[in-house]
Amino acid sequence: MFKKHLLSLKRYQTSENRDVLNGIILDRNERADHFSKKEFKNILKKIPRYSINATPDISPLYKQLSSYHKLHGNNFYVTQGITECMSQIIYSFAKKNDEIVVMKPTYPMYDVLCKLHNVKLRHWKFKKDFTLELNDLKKLINRRTKIIFLVNPNLPIEYEFSESYKKAILDLCKKKNILLVYDEAYYYFGSSSEIKNLKKYKNLIIMRTFSKAFGLSGIRLGYMIANTKICDYVSKCRTLVETNSLTYQIALWALKNQIYKKHVINVKKGSKFLIKKLRSAKEDFHGGKCTNAILIKLPNYKDTIKLTNYLSRKKIYIRNNFPKPIENYVRVSLASTAKISKFLKEYFKWKKKYIKSKKIP
Ligand SMILES: Cc1ncc(COP(=O)(O)O)c(C=O)c1O
Repeated sequence: MFKKHLLSLKRYQTSENRDVLNGIILDRNERADHFSKKEFKNILKKIPRYSINATPDISPLYKQLSSYHKLHGNNFYVTQGITECMSQIIYSFAKKNDEIVVMKPTYPMYDVLCKLHNVKLRHWKFKKDFTLELNDLKKLINRRTKIIFLVNPNLPIEYEFSESYKKAILDLCKKKNILLVYDEAYYYFGSSSEIKNLKKYKNLIIMRTFSKAFGLSGIRLGYMIANTKICDYVSKCRTLVETNSLTYQIALWALKNQIYKKHVINVKKGSKFLIKKLRSAKEDFHGGKCTNAILIKLPNYKDTIKLTNYLSRKKIYIRNNFPKPIENYVRVSLASTAKISKFLKEYFKWKKKYIKSKKIP
């Protein structure tokens, strides 16, 4: 009755046990600074009364996306976040025995979804100095390679693809008939997009989300941009409607008001402040330039657990437990200077007390 590969797939419920209202959520690269009561009230005012009793017609969202990106509405397909988009792309394009290439480390749901859809995954691994070798990618590709997912810019290791790498990979995928998918979740924090190449390359998909710079992780909305044939094909996977009425109305409001702009400025200020403090304390860190997160190196893996637990008791949530080569790092999402200074205060307190005295609890 049960499928073997699903029985062996372990899933964990995400984001549990956080005091989101009173704490500081720096563990999932979300918007840590809540919308004000006034802003929230204004958003709700935009949602019509009939929204909850009628099945939504989300065509205005397609129209808005089309005018926002200056592309035809048929070049979009809306999904419940990039995560659902990834799942539907894998489901619709990868057959049994096909292979998918994904960077490592990157967003962990790539691994989960490949297991869910029972397709073989090959990892393009970061070097110890946080670089990727194009030759390593070439070695991973074979006749069975169907899709390459590239996260640009990437996290947890912040990494931005150079124009020459992107061009070489586009040409490689065209030649070998491989679908190339760019995950541009962190685009607005300062990197260049591949949307410009959509006309020239028919095997290209770009994924975007409302979860990061728009600061709307809770509404679970994202979309892909590609040629009409690909969008039409992947959209066959949709359930009754792409999303619900509340989500789509909030996304409309967010696009119309380009709310990412203010948030990105806020995050950049917090990032500048954090980097300055980490530099003057001679800390070893990486990132904070073109994404909304930074890695901080600790002496060993055990310390990453101790620091994460210590901060969690103070209701400041950060992430540890990363694979090589960042097993000794913690990741801190970037936020306003006010939130970052609360984190820093506790971080330095912990370091002083436990690391310097070596009395680690
Ligand atoms: C690279 C990347 N892509 C996608 C996501 C998730 O996006 P969404 O909330 O739209 O599913 C994340 C979340 O952390 C991410 O890091």
